[in-house]
Amino acid sequence: MSIKLDLSERSHINEVDFNALGFGNIFSDHMLVCDYRDGAWQTPTITSVTPFSLDPSAKVFHYGQAIFEGMKAYKDNHEAVWLFRPQDNFDRFNLSALRMAMPTIPESIFLDGLYQLLTIEQAWVPKQTGSSLYIRPFMIATNGTLSASISTEFRFCILLSPVQSYYSEPINVKIADRYSRAANGGVGAAKTAGNYAAQFYPTHLANQAGYQQIIWTDDATHSMLEEAGTMNLFFRLNNSLITPPTSERILDGITRKSILTLAQHLGIHTEVRPITVQELIDASHTGALKEIFGSGTAAVVSTIKSFAYGDQDYPLVPLLPNESYAQQMKHALTSIQTKHTPDPFGWTFKVCG
Ligand SMILES: Cc1ncc(COP(=O)(O)O)c(C=O)c1O
Repeated sequence: MSIKLDLSERSHINEVDFNALGFGNIFSDHMLVCDYRDGAWQTPTITSVTPFSLDPSAKVFHYGQAIFEGMKAYKDNHEAVWLFRPQDNFDRFNLSALRMAMPTIPESIFLDGLYQLLTIEQAWVPKQTGSSLYIRPFMIATNGTLSASISTEFRFCILLSPVQSYYSEPINVKIADRYSRAANGGVGAAKTAGNYAAQFYPTHLANQAGYQQIIWTDDATHSMLEEAGTMNLFFRLNNSLITPPTSERILDGITRKSILTLAQHLGIHTEVRPITVQELIDASHTGALKEIFGSGTAAVVSTIKSFAYGDQDYPLVPLLPNESYAQQMKHALTSIQTKHTPDPFGWTFKVCG
């Protein structure tokens, strides 16, 4: 698939302070855009980041037919640009597309288009420790008709945003005992817009009560621990690292499966099994609970310093960095991603440089 280039003459990169990056507020000069109509993907274009013009009746505005991915590009010490397991994001994007009745996208647009965009925008990949270029591929339904049915027209787009990792400080979380994020047979395992919109209100209530995130539980009983806002979860009981199995309700996180592999590689005992709220509370009382952390592309590894259930707060005893599995996992993962240590798993992919 050839890609049309419509590049801007002037870059705004010099206006950006790469030492004070937030998350997702700044965008590079160019994006990739590709439309789907008449049953086919059209020629993709790499063009300036400018607002879209859409029909107000476009189905994305009314029925939320929208999916996205989150990935990152990293720079090594020699200025080469690397991706981490890009094929997995591509595969998951197409699984989300199927679940949301959207057309799957070929590798030649998603992956080859991304490589070309990154090659053009390589100056935007930060070098600062902990920083990276966040990549947001997404697809929306653009058909202008109010009938509540599958759209026939779609737009795929890739945005690039230089970022720092967020939640770098340990966070307090609340375990959900009323609201739910996902249900069996639903769309919890898809990266679709409504999953996130539906979390905003309960998360806002939790924020007001002093918690940064919610740990979602199963919708039927609120007794099984599942995942957090944009993170999968790990619980360390004594020296065993436990993560719930993925399901129709839980996103199959790429960081999660990488941590499982890394932990096994480092000789840490792992268990993929359901874990209940009661087991967590009991382990907190006996002292078996040593750590809880979330894993995800945006947050990388995020340490949880306390959890709340009902009216009760359960603080965790802070560990020294060399005792913490969260710190070990974060270090092992980011060292591979930024090419500071060898990648025995074949996860890293060189884009350019
Ligand atoms: C709901 C949810 N769970 C888990 C994750 C972590 O997935 P990954 O490690 O692939 O970024 C994310 C982020 O993508 C997410 O949105």
